[in-house]
Amino acid sequence: MSTPTLYAPIDLQRLPKHVGIIMDGNGRWAKQNKLKVAMGHRAGTEALREIIRNSSDIGIQALSLYAFSTENWNRSQAEVEALMQLILDFFHSEIDELDEKNVRITILGDKSALPEKQREALIQAEERTGKNTGLKLNIAINYGGRAELVRAAQLLAQDVKAGALSPEAFTEELFADRLYTAGMPDVDLMIRTSGEMRLSNFMLWQCSYAEFVFPTVLWPDFDLRQYHQCIAEFQGRKRRFGKREE
Ligand code: FPP
Repeated sequence: MSTPTLYAPIDLQRLPKHVGIIMDGNGRWAKQNKLKVAMGHRAGTEALREIIRNSSDIGIQALSLYAFSTENWNRSQAEVEALMQLILDFFHSEIDELDEKNVRITILGDKSALPEKQREALIQAEERTGKNTGLKLNIAINYGGRAELVRAAQLLAQDVKAGALSPEAFTEELFADRLYTAGMPDVDLMIRTSGEMRLSNFMLWQCSYAEFVFPTVLWPDFDLRQYHQCIAEFQGRKRRFGKREE
């Protein structure tokens, strides 16, 4: 494959292994453009397509996108329905290309509470791409970070109840193995667009040592230039992981 175009000075040998993105600002973008909020989410989906494709092309190992939180059910029925439709359309229109690109899709979150069509599309996407070995694409839908931690604790407790594990044997690794991201590296770089500087219950465990970058651009305007600039900023940071510098 030809070398991908880079829009900022980034070193492809030192990429963040795992990038997380909180795609914020679709509503404000719609308002600025005098459009309905659903159009903001639609434009946001276009931005997301480009970022996924490019992450695969430049060799990012894992990309996690926050598409729908457990709190998003509290938005108007029209907005929830628009988001659910976009999610369905996305999986229908992108699955062939993603599979061809060797992308492995994992859904972070509780699929059981989703409408049937969406649930089926997500399960099919996970099954179809489950053996792929390229970019690990995690899409968080009906996801909450605390709920993910509680679920991991429940799974460990079940193993104890079944006599397969003793509480003294609990380790961070065993806990991490029960998260949706089992087997994946921790998040190195977390990006939140639109200037908001919050984690909003996204990947609480996995972000323990993440570097945060907060571009002010609204998500639908986030392009490859912005993306590569975030990676360049990450590469300029000194990560100490709690140790003192030599
Ligand atoms: C935050 O913007 C964004 C969301 C709640 C949804 C993100 C979803 C997409 C980008 C598209 C759908 C996803 C897939 C996988 C196809 P906001 O509406 O909170 O923005 P605001 O703060 O400006 O109102």
